[in-house]
Amino acid sequence: MKTKILANDKKSIEQAAQILNTGGTVAFPTETVYGLGADARNPQALKQIFDAKRRPNSNPLIIHVADMESAQRIAHFNKLAARAADCFWPGPMTLLLPKCPSSEVSSLVAADQPLIGIRIPSHPVASRLLVEFAQPVAAPSANLTNRVSPTRASHVLNDLDGRIDALIDGGDCHRGLESTILWPQDNSLTLLRLGALEKETIFEALGVMPEWSTDHNHPKTPGQHGLHYSPELPLRINVRAANHGEIWIGFGSDSLNASFNLSEQGDLNEAAANLYATLRMADETAQKSGCLGIAIAPVPDDGMGVAINDRLRRAAAKIEG
Ligand code: TXA
Ligand code: MG
Repeated sequence: MKTKILANDKKSIEQAAQILNTGGTVAFPTETVYGLGADARNPQALKQIFDAKRRPNSNPLIIHVADMESAQRIAHFNKLAARAADCFWPGPMTLLLPKCPSSEVSSLVAADQPLIGIRIPSHPVASRLLVEFAQPVAAPSANLTNRVSPTRASHVLNDLDGRIDALIDGGDCHRGLESTILWPQDNSLTLLRLGALEKETIFEALGVMPEWSTDHNHPKTPGQHGLHYSPELPLRINVRAANHGEIWIGFGSDSLNASFNLSEQGDLNEAAANLYATLRMADETAQKSGCLGIAIAPVPDDGMGVAINDRLRRAAAKIEG
């Protein structure tokens, strides 16, 4: 199939909604990363997402909707979920919630999982597409399984050109890390994926600190393993000077001699926005120049640094065992 590249204008959004309507796949920008969307009610369309990404259909997809009314037709919100939605939507937060029995969302979306993942993105292109289509859109990150998430249209094309119907080019994603995934229960908030919404911000707004679950019965997020976030070459983290034959990614103004720098100013939000693009560039450069690996400077473990370090540890786990 030929992948149609659409501009970010009214006519293109209408065309993209039309493609979704007829069961096709459309990649689109969100504030976190690019998503690969399909009609969440249509099993044939969802199958195309799994095929294009080479993703096992046991790994569930996040539903994207335009507004709270649409979200409430799909999932049941307890009090804490409603407060979280009120504070952080539209924005980079996914809630795992019980599915409404009357919802038209296909069972393929959440495979064997007991809950459904749902979010309202804030990116204007994503919002316009969701309003125009007026139905729930299932969208995982628009990369091949086992590659880092795409934060630019060119990343989507590198992985999925010829495998999807269309791509809306909306420029760079300004957050650069995936949404934070939360499971709100009556009196607790379980964190299932660190992401673009910081734990402290959630605590300040809701008065409840999101915690990793120690309960083995909590919902599983099958995509949360190391390889999910890996570049092709081995990655070493917390490295102050690269070994011979390694590409070095720096952080801050003291990373002299670094081939790339996540943020020369040492700004963690800028580093998050640059992380996946830099890993992809370093991977490409290293492979072209015959380098054997990538090394990355220490990133402070606070604010967005916590989620950045989570992704880096997972990527590095590929060689650490
Ligand atoms: O920022 C984001 O969340 C991006 C944009 C496109 O919205 N989406 C994204 O989707 O990162 P994906 O599929 O690449 O990652 C979603 C993660 C996976 O690890 C998946 O296993 C988990 O969320 N997940 C989704 N629905 C779930 C459910 N119902 N139960 C448990 N885990 C779920
Ligand atoms: Mg993904």
